Amino acid sequence: LHVAVLLGGLSSERDVSLVSGKSCADALERLGAKVARVDAGRDLAQVLTALKPDLVFNALHGAWGEDGCVQGILETLQLPYTHSGVLPSALAMDKAKAKAVLKAAGVTVPGGGLYNRHEVARDHVMAPPYVVKPNAEGSSVGVFIIREGANRPPAEVGSDSWTFGEEVMVEPYIAGQELAVAVLGESSGPRALTVTDIVSNTGWYDYEAKYGENGSRHVLPADIPSTVFEIAKRQAELAHSALGCQSLTRSDFRYDKIKDVLVLLEVNTQPGMTPTSLAPEQAAYAGMGFDDLVKWIVEDAYA
Ligand code: DAL
Ligand code: MG
Repeated sequence: LHVAVLLGGLSSERDVSLVSGKSCADALERLGAKVARVDAGRDLAQVLTALKPDLVFNALHGAWGEDGCVQGILETLQLPYTHSGVLPSALAMDKAKAKAVLKAAGVTVPGGGLYNRHEVARDHVMAPPYVVKPNAEGSSVGVFIIREGANRPPAEVGSDSWTFGEEVMVEPYIAGQELAVAVLGESSGPRALTVTDIVSNTGWYDYEAKYGENGSRHVLPADIPSTVFEIAKRQAELAHSALGCQSLTRSDFRYDKIKDVLVLLEVNTQPGMTPTSLAPEQAAYAGMGFDDLVKWIVEDAYA
């Protein structure tokens, strides 16, 4: 099998993708595949046309690689590829659009909505605590938590250096725990693996906590009430189906134990595949090692 692994790319999550891509390419080589590591750039269509792979393994994250654009190129080239297709990728990447679809399907999502970034930078658009984030980014890039008692909104959002769009998502901050659930889209239906409780060592689960050494601790299975555990799994499966996702996804939640509130923040259609990433860790917990997971993703692309 000749596989082109797409890695790197053009987004703010480029560095993460380089690590995900390397891990997946190494696994594919261990599995006996012939692998071309393709740093995906604007010439992707030409590169893949020359390469003629049997399969494209998409290990890109963020804008362009995770939002349906690359998937559209792969459809046009008629190349089989891993993970979700054009529509679910585009939907999941747009937090506002995804929330509307998820809510209609019965998934509990946070309130709030889109605001003009200058309005957000000028004055509080809701009472703190609240969260301001780009509508279409990953890895917590450009995310601000405005704590209770804060007297100033995030000025950065209104600055000339802001590159994440004119509309930003503002949501009430949900205190408590950060939970994640990986889902495998099996032929019999989506199957949630387990629930991980992410304990950040940097205050919250930001970029540093995600990828820094000792940035966070993962507790799996999460030590939460069994009813909440099951609801998180079912909500992640429901979200996977509602957006029409394929293959592997990972849904991220906030759980406030005191108020007994569980909300789904987002569905990631290209979840991280680095050595510290959550989805491979959950797969390993479920008895599927990293190479087994990569093999499953490849086989699923043909299913
Ligand atoms: N956006 C990162 C890669 C993740 O969801 O794992
Ligand atoms: Mg994300």
